[in-house]
Amino acid sequence: MNNFIFQNATKVYFGKGCVKEYLACLTGPYDTVMLAYGGGSIKRNGIYDEVVGILQAAGKKIVEFSGIMANPTYAKVQEGARLAREQGVDCILGVGGGSVMDCCKAVSLAARYDGDIWKDFWMRPGVIDAEPLPLGVIVTAAGTGSECNGGAVITNEETRVKTGRDYPKLNPRFALMDPTYTYSVPAGQVASGGFDILSHIMETYFSEPNEDNVSDDIMEALMRSVIRNLRAAMQNPEDYTARSNLMWDSTMAENRLIKMGKKCDFQCHNMEYQLGAYTDCNHGCGLAVLHPVYYRHIYKAGLPKFVRFAENVWGIARDGKSDEELALNGIDALAAFIKELGLPTTLQELGVADASSLGEIADSCGISAGSYKKMTHEEILEIFNECLA
Ligand code: NZQ
Ligand code: ZN
Repeated sequence: MNNFIFQNATKVYFGKGCVKEYLACLTGPYDTVMLAYGGGSIKRNGIYDEVVGILQAAGKKIVEFSGIMANPTYAKVQEGARLAREQGVDCILGVGGGSVMDCCKAVSLAARYDGDIWKDFWMRPGVIDAEPLPLGVIVTAAGTGSECNGGAVITNEETRVKTGRDYPKLNPRFALMDPTYTYSVPAGQVASGGFDILSHIMETYFSEPNEDNVSDDIMEALMRSVIRNLRAAMQNPEDYTARSNLMWDSTMAENRLIKMGKKCDFQCHNMEYQLGAYTDCNHGCGLAVLHPVYYRHIYKAGLPKFVRFAENVWGIARDGKSDEELALNGIDALAAFIKELGLPTTLQELGVADASSLGEIADSCGISAGSYKKMTHEEILEIFNECLA
């Protein structure tokens, strides 16, 4: 295994009823709470009423920050930071999926930082020395795992850059995770969030080292769990077992644990981010389009791992097949699963009308140092063209 340091500062409260049981206590030290949420799903499914009821009963001053969009923008972050400063907010409570949680992390930093956090942080890898506002989250959708990491993915609409930075101080102090809160997530988002979980695991699994390491073993179990429970949750949205497994799979995939000792790839994420910056496409949907095509480009450089993937994740028997045939069977199984979930398989379905913009998008993508096969911008363009229709 490669050397590593592991720490995760988020305290997780998991299970049915956890918000009712712990929210008042967790917000105890704070007088003014910023209640941050997205486009209003929490008002339709009753979560808003439950949360506001608890905060009001605890005598909190509530400052609402609503309308956080999918693929949160830097402009929205600045709006939240201004509000937090003006209202003297001393704790942020983000209620939603990855977009709400990421936006809240960025707001918590921007509210406490005098400079331009986009310029000084999102565009400049490294650590900035600012203590963010305390942040807690209530997770309403499984997918990103943002609740247990310091990552925040933000889109700058002016410069057309979507990018994430991971800053350990942005780990939420607490995460409340009630699987029943995810029952109302629309089927398309269940599939896309579920695929995002799978993608996070695959982006980590398909990277050096290939020698025996416990992270790869954990990841195979996690991938099987995601596939099984995603199928069950799509069949029956109120399957508590499936929802709770997916919710925790999502956290496990992005709480840094499985990355220990691994190089990590995340080339598909780099490509999806720029597709998102240009088209505002749904994150998990973008990943679903890219993954099988990307893997057909790189599998020869990581053949033993693709063979393991076919056998240990998809249960494909060797039956006299060569390594190459087996590896391709595994990628085909992944592509078939994407179709089964009803996820998009072409860039046209994501809103890319024709190939004219693809060169510019490809050139704007980051190149991963952890890929089995280091991409060039020319090869990214080939991948985009193969994904187009
Ligand atoms: O806007 P609201 O009303 O919240 O509705 C959302 C949104 O329309 C809805 N939703 C969420 N919970 C619901 C629900 N609808 C009904 N019932 C519920 N319980 O689902 C839609 C999508 O929500 P969003 O938060 O955008 O989805 P997701 O969780 O997939 O987050 C995507 C964002 O996270 C970033 C992505 O790039 C994207 O910007 N990521 C963050 C990561 C991180 N911080 O670690 C890692 C990921 O790789 C990813 O990049
Ligand atoms: Zn992702």
